[in-house]
Amino acid sequence: MVDQSELPFRMLVRKYGCDLCYTPMVHSRLFCEDVKYREMIFTTCEQDRPLVVQFNANNPDLLVQVHNSSFDLKPFNLNPNPNSNSNPNPNPSRPNDTNTFNNSQAASMVVDKCDAIDINFGCPQDIAKKGRYGAYLLEEPDVCRSLVEAMSKHLSHKVPVCCKIRLLPIDDREERITKTIEFAKMLVKAGCQLLTVHGRTRLNRGQHVGACDWDAIRRIKEALDIPVFANGSIETLGDVKKCQEATGCDGIMSAEALLGNPGLFAEDSTTVPDPVQLAWEYIELAEQYPVHYRMVRAHLFKILYDCLASLPELRAEVGTIGDAASARLLMEKVEAQVSPETRRKPSDWILRHRPDRREPTPKELERDKQAMEAAVEQEEQPQTSLFADAGDDY
Ligand SMILES: Cc1cc2nc3c(=O)[nH]c(=O)nc-3n(C[C@H](O)[C@H](O)[C@H](O)COP(=O)(O)O)c2cc1C
Repeated sequence: MVDQSELPFRMLVRKYGCDLCYTPMVHSRLFCEDVKYREMIFTTCEQDRPLVVQFNANNPDLLVQVHNSSFDLKPFNLNPNPNSNSNPNPNPSRPNDTNTFNNSQAASMVVDKCDAIDINFGCPQDIAKKGRYGAYLLEEPDVCRSLVEAMSKHLSHKVPVCCKIRLLPIDDREERITKTIEFAKMLVKAGCQLLTVHGRTRLNRGQHVGACDWDAIRRIKEALDIPVFANGSIETLGDVKKCQEATGCDGIMSAEALLGNPGLFAEDSTTVPDPVQLAWEYIELAEQYPVHYRMVRAHLFKILYDCLASLPELRAEVGTIGDAASARLLMEKVEAQVSPETRRKPSDWILRHRPDRREPTPKELERDKQAMEAAVEQEEQPQTSLFADAGDDY
């Protein structure tokens, strides 16, 4: 998750039962060109495994040049230190060789620090449309094929190449599923070894998020002979089990609900501390593995969502923390002011958009279809920043 599945958060969810973590989506060109971006977006440690590093990508022509690469492929700091000045490229505003940066190359820089590389074909944001990546590439199957082929050719002997997709944005459900299956088969033929399917289209986002189509995921899983992960509408451990039964998938991914409840995957929920304690654990991890404080603020806001519901001043203070000392000071106030009853409630962050957790009725599915049509009309809205609105609009 952009700005949210960074190292300290990964370490927290791993502690409470999450088996496999993905990095935030990494912009492959920036990753090659800009050492500051690289150090900000990707930090890891020995315990941060198994790990999938996810890239956006869109340039198959450059992919094949990986063997001509003159990049230093060891630019990483395995024990992240925010004061590090290491810079493999003396002029980070330009790549070392303008003909050699490419998506495979970005991936080749992390292969020995992860267990798989994923290509993002799921990002629905306007910035992805502008940058021609994410879910918008689903409409350019030849580009997707060549990306996967190139990645597979150059990297699959070291790590598996995976893809994350959404359903194709086709109005008719049957056609949507059939065409998405065709698309998925094409990816597998090109070399994709693991597919994650988010059972919504790129038009289902923000207020039009709608129901996730687990049955469509099941049909895609049944049509493929590689492992498939299901994604969408996982809000509790019960949902993980229901989704596994409904889809037959090999893994179940949760995103937004995990932000509110990092203990979502714990088999025994009594082993998960209350939100205040989880927030303490997170800020300790953020001190151990430093990250930008905008990420810390966003996590505290979500983990403490319910605790701070009746404490608006304290909630506003979350937005002001900028270092370990201010984060600790805030947490001391939270300790003092949040009542024991409120502390015991898990964060309801995930429910703010989705108060209704039943299976969708045919009427609701129809309403989602209409919302999707409305979203098509809204598509030409002004571009927004990936970092600014990821949490609200993904
Ligand atoms: C803050 C935020 C950031 C996200 N960033 C990414 C990302 O970098 N890559 C990606 O594949 N999906 C990203 N997603 C989408 C989720 O992976 C997931 O597909 C989506 O939220 C649906 O799953 P959920 O219902 O469990 O939230 C992001 C979602 C959120 C809420």
